[in-house]
Amino acid sequence: MPDIPTLTTARLILRSFTLADAARVCELANDRRIADMTAVIPHPYLEDAAEAWIALHAPAAAEGKEFTFAITLNAALIGVIAVGDAQDPAVGVLGYWIGVPYWNNGFATEAGRAVIDFAFGMGRYTRVIADHFSINPASGRVMQKLGMSYQRTTHKHFPIRNRSHDVIHYALTREQWLALHTPNLTGVYNTFGGCIPETHENEPQTDRTDQTESFLIACLICLICLWLI
Ligand SMILES: CC(C)(COP(=O)(O)OP(=O)(O)OC[C@H]1O[C@@H](n2cnc3c(N)ncnc32)[C@H](O)[C@@H]1OP(=O)(O)O)[C@@H](O)C(=O)NCCC(=O)NCCS
Repeated sequence: MPDIPTLTTARLILRSFTLADAARVCELANDRRIADMTAVIPHPYLEDAAEAWIALHAPAAAEGKEFTFAITLNAALIGVIAVGDAQDPAVGVLGYWIGVPYWNNGFATEAGRAVIDFAFGMGRYTRVIADHFSINPASGRVMQKLGMSYQRTTHKHFPIRNRSHDVIHYALTREQWLALHTPNLTGVYNTFGGCIPETHENEPQTDRTDQTESFLIACLICLICLWLI
């Protein structure tokens, strides 16, 4: 029965929600700048709704279907991030929001990296996908910084908003994710100091050239020994 783990990044702790977080969720999410950019957050957002939403997290995680994390900075809740099964359970869907006072500090990207690592680390997903409204380029930028690539644009109606939007779809395959973790890669992903798996972070990095050199020196020593004998 999977649980919601606690994930630690350079600046953030991502943890499971408790009902005590409901008031803070409302305080942050009760802002049209957040609600209007999502397909699911009601507006106005009342504490009852937040509590009902939090109560869904543990059963969804227990079934292994969805993992929702509270994004915290110095113990204060600043946003939400989740990954859950798409219709195809081999595909994970990433979703997030950050409270307005905390925008443009790299927090969504930092949390996104941790949750993508967690999602692929479970071993079940071949792809993680995300999408954003075309009127929300900041979210698209987060997806790009997460190493995701543009897939297509669709047009959809969202009854909760009573609006239609162009929706821009992004995806990251497991292979692309592994490539982002290649040791010594100087790309955007690894330079952020996010959540490189410990096996990569702590293992001494041996260069192929070093290994070849050591091998040749060992051969040379053997030859000298044979010649001396
Ligand atoms: C989208 C959102 C999660 C981004 O959170 P964040 O913590 O500010 O994200 P980051 O700081 O990691 O990255 C934001 C990037 O967008 C860029 N950005 C901000 N406003 C932008 C705009 N109007 N146009 C283009 N890029 C923009 C920032 O400059 C930054 O990119 P950079 O690092 O290259 O400079 C946040 O704005 C939010 O919660 N919005 C409302 C809810 C939402 O959109 N959820 C996602 C639904 S798909």
